[in-house]
Amino acid sequence: DWNSANVIEEQVARIKEQVGSARVIAGLSGGVDSAVAAALVHKAVGDQLTCVFVDHGLLRADERKQVEEDYVASTGVRLVTVDAEQQFLDALAGVSDPEQKRKIIGREFIRTFEAAAEALVLEARADAAGSDSDAGQVEFLVQGTLYPDVVESGGGSGTANIKSHHNVGGLPEDMTFKLVEPLRTLFKDEVRAVGRELGLPEVIVGRQPFPGPGLGIRIVGEVTKDRLELLRVADKIAREELTAAGLDEEIWQCPVVLLADVRSVGVQGDGRTYGHPIVLRPVSSEDAMTADWTRLPYDILAKISNRITNEVPDVNRVVLDVTSKPPGTIEWE
Ligand code: XMP
Repeated sequence: DWNSANVIEEQVARIKEQVGSARVIAGLSGGVDSAVAAALVHKAVGDQLTCVFVDHGLLRADERKQVEEDYVASTGVRLVTVDAEQQFLDALAGVSDPEQKRKIIGREFIRTFEAAAEALVLEARADAAGSDSDAGQVEFLVQGTLYPDVVESGGGSGTANIKSHHNVGGLPEDMTFKLVEPLRTLFKDEVRAVGRELGLPEVIVGRQPFPGPGLGIRIVGEVTKDRLELLRVADKIAREELTAAGLDEEIWQCPVVLLADVRSVGVQGDGRTYGHPIVLRPVSSEDAMTADWTRLPYDILAKISNRITNEVPDVNRVVLDVTSKPPGTIEWE
């Protein structure tokens, strides 16, 4: 009896009631959840909504372009992009602890949304000067929080805090936004169905999940600009080869992780190397609450490994994660 049209109707009514005539911003991460959440709010309250895309420097290759072009074209939402790479790198400098990274990233997201909201209000006031139209504060922030995010951040009854998802346990306490979370009771496959029903393009609804804290939690060790660049190249290679092999359907997602705190000895050409390993973490799953490691064909693994060790500087080894969830989580941090 679950049906995406009903969910949309119900959520649109709820959002209208919650938001009234207030102004709303939605953070877009490039991922499926934030895209669908924002599209629902847009359907409910139209141009009371402004979407904000934070380029925090922890993104994968091409992510920004997909949001700025494909998403805007299919939804018609108003989008503001904020360049915040230096801000995030400065905040993360010297930090290796996974929970600390998550909290810092969650906090910087909110600080960035607050600044964007303030800029919007100033702009609206300037536009409204002389007229008596309403240019009030932005009261609401849309988040694409899913049911599993709530459970795994310790929000469900009787569950331990496994990880502070950036949009649940990672929020600063002094945040003034009220949250609009229209996906809070849904699982990922349901979110995708809602997105399709809303007419979002397949490149967005069919995407593999990507965590809000981005590549920041796929570097084991301190996050630096150089390391992010390496990881971005390795991730792009893995994605290209998996897609070319037609494996996107079979894989839930394939995090690519840089073990920045580990080095091993290698040989390349006729020289010794002392570089970092890259971990491939392909998983199959229904809802990310549990997962199994995907048995990828050896020749695909070989191709990815060859390309990564040849094309990514400072990486001299590729390893495969063969752990299910539990006991491993999908992401390494
Ligand atoms: P784990 O690593 O807990 O991940 O097994 C389960 C799923 O959630 C994604 N993930 C996140 N998504 N914000 C998100 O939006 C986060 O902070 C976050 N942490 C993990 C992960 O990619 C996987 O799909």
